[in-house]
Amino acid sequence: MLRIDVITVLPELLESPFGHSIIRRARAKGIVDLHVHDLRDYTADKHRRVDDYAFGGEAGMVIRIEPVFNIIRHLTGERRYDEIIYTSPDGRQFCQKEANYLSLKENLIILCGHYKGIDHRIREHLITREISIGDYVLTGGELAAAVICDSVIRLLPGAMGDEASALGDSFQDNLLAPPVYTRPEVFNGWAVPPVLLSGNTAEVEAWRWQQSEERTRTLRPDLLE
Ligand code: ADE
Repeated sequence: MLRIDVITVLPELLESPFGHSIIRRARAKGIVDLHVHDLRDYTADKHRRVDDYAFGGEAGMVIRIEPVFNIIRHLTGERRYDEIIYTSPDGRQFCQKEANYLSLKENLIILCGHYKGIDHRIREHLITREISIGDYVLTGGELAAAVICDSVIRLLPGAMGDEASALGDSFQDNLLAPPVYTRPEVFNGWAVPPVLLSGNTAEVEAWRWQQSEERTRTLRPDLLE
């Protein structure tokens, strides 16, 4: 079973994304073993402070190395981790291929970034992979960690109701997903494409493929390069 340990200074921020829908069900069914750790539990500081002033007069507080070292030493002392990830806009941009890669691992740590950064020695000596979820800046890495966990957990066998559905996702073969419709067949004069009502599976498949291809060509031509 995939185990993910998320390290954060704001564990409450992850309660909701990890407590609903597919992730909640995957946890309850034993498909993923997801743990959220409060970094403040791992410092010897009597005020539970995990940050300090930056050397060199830079404005803003920086996460100290001591609590991060302690928790990573604690976790890696119990099992071998495939990747120790840090969420940061400096990282490699996250994509479906990376989600697929991570979903095949056994044990992952995700250290959530912090708006003014963390002592760089953590990144030099403890982190194995830095991931950005896009070229924009968040207030912290928690939302990025939630995005990564969500995209990885839904790929785990049994996490989604329909086993095949994750394979039909946009991006799985570098194509956007085709449109979907449900009842009624006509609403406000807007009709569903007739082929979907034809009952001809081969024709429906051909239509879906053609729609995928066409949507990718018009909306995301970069994916076809
Ligand atoms: N922390 C702040 N911004 C981020 C981003 N774009 N991706 C990952 N972590 C971040």
